[in-house]
Amino acid sequence: MADVDEPEVSGHYAILFFTAERYTRRVNKTAIKHFVLYVGVGLMLVSALVLLFEVQNPSGSMQQYGRPVNAVYLDASRSVEERTEDLLSRMTLAEKVGQMVLVERSSIKEMSDLSSYALGALLSGAGSNPEDNSLHGWATMVAGFQEEVERRSRLGIPILYGVDAVHGHGNVPGATVFPHAIGLGAANEPDLTRRSARATGEELEATGVYWSFSPNLDLPKDIRWGRVYETFSDDPALVALHGRAYIEGLQQRENDSTASLAVLATPKHYVGLGSMLWGTSRNAEYRIDQGTTPADEMRLRAEYLPPFQEALKGGAQSIMVGLNRWGDKELASSHYLLQDVLKDELGFTGFLVSDWYGVYEIPGSDYRSAITAINAGVDMVMLPFDYVPFVANVTQAVTHGAIPIERIDDAVRRILRVKFALGLFERNQRVIAEASFGSAEHRAIAREAVGKSLVLLKNDQNVLPLGPETQHIRVAGSAADNVGRQTGAWTVAWQGIEGNWLPGATSILQGIRAGAPTGTLVEFSATGTFASHEDIADVGIAIVGEAPYSEGYGDSPLPTLTDEDTAAINALRLNSKKVVVILVSGRPLLISHHLPTWDALVMAWLPGSEGAGIADVLFGSVPFTGRLPIPWPASLSQLPVGLGSETNDGSPLQYERFFGIVTSLNNSTSD
Ligand code: BGC
Repeated sequence: MADVDEPEVSGHYAILFFTAERYTRRVNKTAIKHFVLYVGVGLMLVSALVLLFEVQNPSGSMQQYGRPVNAVYLDASRSVEERTEDLLSRMTLAEKVGQMVLVERSSIKEMSDLSSYALGALLSGAGSNPEDNSLHGWATMVAGFQEEVERRSRLGIPILYGVDAVHGHGNVPGATVFPHAIGLGAANEPDLTRRSARATGEELEATGVYWSFSPNLDLPKDIRWGRVYETFSDDPALVALHGRAYIEGLQQRENDSTASLAVLATPKHYVGLGSMLWGTSRNAEYRIDQGTTPADEMRLRAEYLPPFQEALKGGAQSIMVGLNRWGDKELASSHYLLQDVLKDELGFTGFLVSDWYGVYEIPGSDYRSAITAINAGVDMVMLPFDYVPFVANVTQAVTHGAIPIERIDDAVRRILRVKFALGLFERNQRVIAEASFGSAEHRAIAREAVGKSLVLLKNDQNVLPLGPETQHIRVAGSAADNVGRQTGAWTVAWQGIEGNWLPGATSILQGIRAGAPTGTLVEFSATGTFASHEDIADVGIAIVGEAPYSEGYGDSPLPTLTDEDTAAINALRLNSKKVVVILVSGRPLLISHHLPTWDALVMAWLPGSEGAGIADVLFGSVPFTGRLPIPWPASLSQLPVGLGSETNDGSPLQYERFFGIVTSLNNSTSD
């Protein structure tokens, strides 16, 4: 390297000491004492100044480790392209391979591995939280990783830290938890999606995380799939609209002058996810997740590609490759879909990241799978477990010509560009938006989203919204006073956590109690049984639904109500004049046989931390405006349901896509 500086800081101390020695030979003892005192104080001051300089300007300390100085890549005034090319030209093969690695943080063996392997990226898989799982704990953890690479690696390339912020930064207790994406699809207000994503971005920034594995652009065809709620809709146009709004919101830069991207979005999962057939999962514990997408290119192009095309227009710089197979081929091994279609035909210039262990699910040895995936177009490989053999394999493959160095350069170039665009090299200049974390302003957006996401499916005799004549309300059901059910999975833990433990959250019951008109009696019993059953309440509200689940653990052969919830609804019917059922569920449930006995039915999806948003609509201060973003099947034999709402057995759906009764504030309704 032409422009590597020698260590400088130790040199300054040496000069001071030599000067002091020369001075002491000429003066008396008092003068020596004074001298020692002054020099001591002086040294302390100089050390303090050096330390301060190091803290404020990490690049100053980098010189100790042979960091290039005056390098183009360290100069924030140069363009992203110039900086990328300059950095790439300085990198060894090992450093390039390191940038292609995305490791789950708990798999890091030694902190020093980050710098010795020049690792490019880390993630917290859902539930992989620091011991101090708080805003402060996260910020400290991520800063610690950054400091390791910035101070000790040769080139000081910052880490890209990623999480699944799929409905807010739900990894951290105290964050605002927004409705899961299906609720935003039901609200169908792109600006609301954009604002929710921007708020999520700010809460991520508060923890030093600048990368989220969202939005989800999958299109579900079968409600038995455990990931339906992560999607906006099964309609490509609606998904494209909201996916783009989400990306623009998350990535939108506000006050920061150095970065062009605030937080990096990662639309996922490319491509065809949601159309897998039941029973095709190759994961022994799943049924449909990680299964096979029929290799029908026309349908893939007509339905599954458009949301990704729109994501590119919205500025997507990173895309996650799905864990599904297309026909008999793992997506991560499809040169055709990754390189030919996405990069060459659609012009995607960002980087492709593989999902979880996906690369190693490509048949063959680990060595062969890595070669296949990288040659197919995967740029960054998610390695939940072991990165050491991966680095060795890829390095060897390049040395042996099995992976062309041009492919490696292409991958690293794509990754570095994003790091520069995010301003990661100038990270210490970013404004940390701590005050926004779980703020009242963000919770207000989430509450608005809850109200707008509710879909009124049945409303006999306009029982909803509840008017002032409703003096006595009975509330029952497993999801009534259970924030864990409202937020669903991807909230602090991968599979979610039941109960009211999330700081700052409001359960639906708490919202009803607070929102009911003064003087209204609100009673609660999860089972629907009340001591004073002789008097009949004006309305019984049953808040029922699904326990939290995620991914294949949510694959269900029969999505319907539990016996416990059915019993609670039946109990309410005996002690209340009318029964309103509110479903808290990640997908439509099969309820045809129950429906005739309910007076009203509201689909609330998985509303998140702001349960009060439901009371706003129940009591009429906000109208029902949500519409179903996916068709609602009446039976299992109808699955899967096609884009034209055609059911598998030809029988009519329970409710068509986009059905929803709309109320106005004065209680009149229309479909
Ligand atoms: C999921 C992805 C997620 C990743 C990282 C995988 O199991 O399929 O959607 O982004 O884990 O948590």
